Amino acid sequence: MNETIVSMQGICKSFPGVKALDNVHFELRSGEVMALLGENGAGKSTLMKILSGVYTRDSGSVEIFGQQCGDLTTKQAQALGVAIIHQELNMCPHLTVAENMFLGREKKKGFMIDMKAMEAEAAQILGDLKIDISPSEMVGNLPVSKQQMVEIAKALSINAKVLIMDEPTSALTAKEIDELFRIIKRLRADGCGIVYISHRLEELQHIVDRVTIMRDGQYITDMNFKDATMDEIITHMVGREIKEKFPRVECQKGEKIFEVKNLNAGHLVRDINFSVYAGEIVGFAGLMGAGRTETTRAIFGVDPKTSGELIVDGKTVTVNSPMDAIKAGIVLAPEDRKKDGLCTKLPIRENIALPNLDLLCNGLGVVSKKKEDDMCAKAVKDLHIKTPNVEVDAGSLSGGNQQKVVVGKWLARDSRVVIFDEPTRGIDVAAKVEIYNLMNQLKQQGIAVMFVSSEMPEVMGIADRIIVMCDGRITGEVMARQTTQAEILTLATQFENKFAEDAV
Ligand SMILES: Nc1ncnc2c1ncn2[C@@H]1O[C@H](COP(=O)(O)OP(=O)(O)OP(=O)(O)O)[C@@H](O)[C@H]1O
Ligand SMILES: [Mg+2]
Repeated sequence: MNETIVSMQGICKSFPGVKALDNVHFELRSGEVMALLGENGAGKSTLMKILSGVYTRDSGSVEIFGQQCGDLTTKQAQALGVAIIHQELNMCPHLTVAENMFLGREKKKGFMIDMKAMEAEAAQILGDLKIDISPSEMVGNLPVSKQQMVEIAKALSINAKVLIMDEPTSALTAKEIDELFRIIKRLRADGCGIVYISHRLEELQHIVDRVTIMRDGQYITDMNFKDATMDEIITHMVGREIKEKFPRVECQKGEKIFEVKNLNAGHLVRDINFSVYAGEIVGFAGLMGAGRTETTRAIFGVDPKTSGELIVDGKTVTVNSPMDAIKAGIVLAPEDRKKDGLCTKLPIRENIALPNLDLLCNGLGVVSKKKEDDMCAKAVKDLHIKTPNVEVDAGSLSGGNQQKVVVGKWLARDSRVVIFDEPTRGIDVAAKVEIYNLMNQLKQQGIAVMFVSSEMPEVMGIADRIIVMCDGRITGEVMARQTTQAEILTLATQFENKFAEDAV
């Protein structure tokens, strides 16, 4: 037990303009869970993509189960027992769950694909994971959390001995995370080596044995998890100490900026009423599926409303589309950045400039290159977006830096209401503080800030007032400084229909 099963030495990898990995060293033993930690853009995903055959290295050596490996293809890596669950979901939405799980290694009966056998095996693996999904369901019909579980089931179906999980919990519910941890522990007991990448540092204590820390494409250190404090780990990751994880600024509560009256939309936005005042951040807490994202989408005009009134600075505004919302001074940084927030195939420059063309045009309707340059430079600087320049495609940025671009494009506007839906998902500790500071900055400018988050410590640490939702309704409101996690959780589970609780 516990022999070295993966050894990577002197790994280098460059992309145009970026040295993503610089002489990196990494070792994994059997029967251990290794957390691979580092800030956004540190090179974690790149290193693991090399191990799993997605990328080829420029130099360095890779040894898997004592076997020296040249450039691997993904198929060869799989044959050696290496499976990876990617950070960004990459399922084919138009194929079924079983088809996705066996993509590229379909079961055959003669020349024909044996769908029955694939569905039977898929059902067995899903059942084992206690995931209630039919193998014949189209993946595109599943919510993100379920797609993520299918991704995990897929990795398990190849009988992995080295399992890499890149941010596996970013879209899972609390119950699904428990299930995932149970599976991880079982695999570890079976002698599997697991690489676990996560920016949710508080979850590491439940499963992690060792940590490897990277910074700016370099190996910094590795150590036993129990020998290190969280502050030490963070200092290694960031290269400096982070004193305040939740910097809160005190502001005088001012006038009412934004009011939502009797908002109804779909079945998850039911009779929503609330106000946001100048000088405060209003947090929206609740379990996944409570209707918070749906509420933000209805406000921003993405989804149609069945009724409701929006009032900005005392005036009723009509919002039937995001364009209307932006004109009325309401902007949204959405939860699913890949789908709604970012054009991954366009450069950073265009992602930032496009929604702001009205501000960038001169009197003749021509875009001023100078204004565009300034706006982009400011966003990159204010949010510390890690990129060689603004001409690279947004899709090539690390996950956290993509998120910063989503937020960055709204910074230039004189908005009155800024809605952040899970803005820190997949973002490293230092960048989280930057996003909080950004929200604080808006709050100090008298802008109404709405902050949807599923992470209790950050809502309690950053928001002033917290509105709790359950089942599409507001079930309570508490002051952040005076409340407890237990109180919020009680409000977040006030289901009208008791059976719905099983869905948590
Ligand atoms: N396909 C690519 N093309 C160009 N640059 C890339 C590509 N993939 C990664 N990079 C760059 O390599 C560096 C390392 O990125 P990587 O995705 O490995 O970071 P990470 O540690 O996984 O970050 P995060 O925590 O944000 O996911 C970044 O600067 C990123 O922009
Ligand atoms: Mg990554």
